Amino acid sequence: MTNPATNEITAEIKKLAAERDAVILAHYYVDGQIQEIADYVGDSYALAKIAKNDPRKTIVFCGVTFMGESACILNPDKTVLVPNTNAVCPMALMADPETIAEMRQKYDDLAVVCYINSTAEIKALSDVIVTSSNALKIVKSLPNKNIFFIPDGNLGRYVAQQIPEKNVILNKGFCHVHTSITAAEIEKCFHEHQAAKVISHPECMKEVVDLSDYVGSTKELIEFVKSDDAEEYIVCTESGVLHEMQKVAPQKKFYFVGAKQVCPNMKRITLENIRDCLKNNTPQAHCSDELREKSCKPLARMLEIAK
Ligand code: 13P
Ligand code: SF4
Repeated sequence: MTNPATNEITAEIKKLAAERDAVILAHYYVDGQIQEIADYVGDSYALAKIAKNDPRKTIVFCGVTFMGESACILNPDKTVLVPNTNAVCPMALMADPETIAEMRQKYDDLAVVCYINSTAEIKALSDVIVTSSNALKIVKSLPNKNIFFIPDGNLGRYVAQQIPEKNVILNKGFCHVHTSITAAEIEKCFHEHQAAKVISHPECMKEVVDLSDYVGSTKELIEFVKSDDAEEYIVCTESGVLHEMQKVAPQKKFYFVGAKQVCPNMKRITLENIRDCLKNNTPQAHCSDELREKSCKPLARMLEIAK
């Protein structure tokens, strides 16, 4: 049933977005209502590309703040609105300049490969940025043998396992949402739904990835359930993906193993704060010219290699 208050605020957002020449981008983890009003919904890589290529002069980035910040770095001539500045990804803060400097001292040929879930300061100290959908392709393409993968230790390990010829040094960062999913919970769920396939995001722990039938970024997981022939899935990522999965495969069943599969930061984005940021033209993502110059290079390198 449609809610008149939701209809009203949605109409207001559409009107304000048109007035500001704004495109609304939403990650698959934000609330379904927000995904519905967005012009584009995607994973981190797809959204970074759209932010770069869309001709509109304002971007409203409905996701955690590093996503808006990356869009701001890549688009110096656009205004990037971030509806809620408290929507911070804790993993983005789990890498430090001192350890990067130590690793560079230790290995002459080191490449610092940085997951897009990171701050602009850390991106600026890195050689290339990756997302979960292009990390393997990008690391494989690098000439360097020694790779320092930051901040996510789980994505780093997942990539390293597939490239034994490289020495991938792991960092201790993690996503609290994905690492809350345990093998025991999946096994219990599988016991109840034995026809289900297990699909997981590479931010999950090794024990979860090891028992998965398919591993991929949010977009890849959605594409998998659309094209695969199973009817049921145990989904090991944030539960916001359910909105799109039900759209692309309405006849299929999706199981989540626990109440912890919710990213509280992604859920901080509301229709009200989207309306307000469009009305007030604030809060905006910001980056100093110096930081933008340094962090743009590894981001642009990602877009180039992953093309
Ligand atoms: P994707 O790159 O798969 O969209 O993942 C982003 C993220 O924050 C995962 O926790
Ligand atoms: Fe960060 Fe995890 Fe939330 Fe993704 S799901 S934004 S990695 S806390």
